[in-house]
Amino acid sequence: MIENYTVCHCEQVSFNDIADAMHNSEKFDDVLSAFDSVQNITHCSTGCGGCYQKVLDIISDIMNGAAH
Ligand code: FES
Repeated sequence: MIENYTVCHCEQVSFNDIADAMHNSEKFDDVLSAFDSVQNITHCSTGCGGCYQKVLDIISDIMNGAAH
């Protein structure tokens, strides 16, 4: 179990928000399409963009089953 934390400070999007957005969406073919979907739902990475790589890393971890 991973502790929840804020990933995107501009939009106050947490790790759990990203995980929930992914679990509520269909399966993704790749990290970038998952990112688009997560961004639509949570608006993460729409401010300064500084969290972009972090969001991608989290999405790919979740897709690889490393984090739930
Ligand atoms: S921290 Fe996510 S857009 Fe600025």
